[in-house]
Amino acid sequence: MEAREWLAARRSVSKLEGPGPDDTTLERIWTSALRAPDHGALRPWRILVVRSEARARLGALMAASALRERPELSPDELDRERSKPMRAPVVAVVVASLVDSRKIPEIEQWLSAGCVAYGIVLAAQAEGFGAIWRTGGPSHDRRFHADMGLSETDRIVGFVYLGTPKVMPPEGPRPLARDFVQDWEG
Ligand SMILES: Cc1cc2nc3c(=O)[nH]c(=O)nc-3n(C[C@H](O)[C@H](O)[C@H](O)COP(=O)(O)O)c2cc1C
Repeated sequence: MEAREWLAARRSVSKLEGPGPDDTTLERIWTSALRAPDHGALRPWRILVVRSEARARLGALMAASALRERPELSPDELDRERSKPMRAPVVAVVVASLVDSRKIPEIEQWLSAGCVAYGIVLAAQAEGFGAIWRTGGPSHDRRFHADMGLSETDRIVGFVYLGTPKVMPPEGPRPLARDFVQDWEG
């Protein structure tokens, strides 16, 4: 398949299972993703890789965060929150590590970290795996950040779930260039 066809065919995969990418493959995925555009070469990102039993520890922190936000959660709903990281063998927590810069605004650093997250999704697909970028309440919860050991200047851009596709999602409508792109002539 041509690269352009491959890019146009990209899709997120939400139903994932093991095996996940092995260490060598993960290293290639991170290396590709870290080639993200980065104004000023600030490298304002980090990837925290959560695997094996650490996923349960992440799930416990997610459940605690959900409970702070919605104290009315039932035990079943709480279990659902707790089991979220178990939906894939590997969860990459993509962090924007904001740098104090007079020249590069924070939003540009966020965007660069977003490119890293997208790069992981693309690189996982290139390696024959599936991936999906998710966020949710905990990604915006500063207490959750602290519980994860993040610093004051860290922001969570997303949790990228990686694994073997269990079910490929049905093909859906794709955005057409003519609906979103137009010539601008002043
Ligand atoms: C910043 C960001 C956060 C997202 N958060 C979620 C999420 O929490 N849950 C979810 O199902 N999809 C989330 N998505 C969307 C999926 O990553 C994905 O794009 C969507 O399922 C559509 O699939 P597609 O990428 O194949 O079009 C998010 C996307 C972005 C860019």
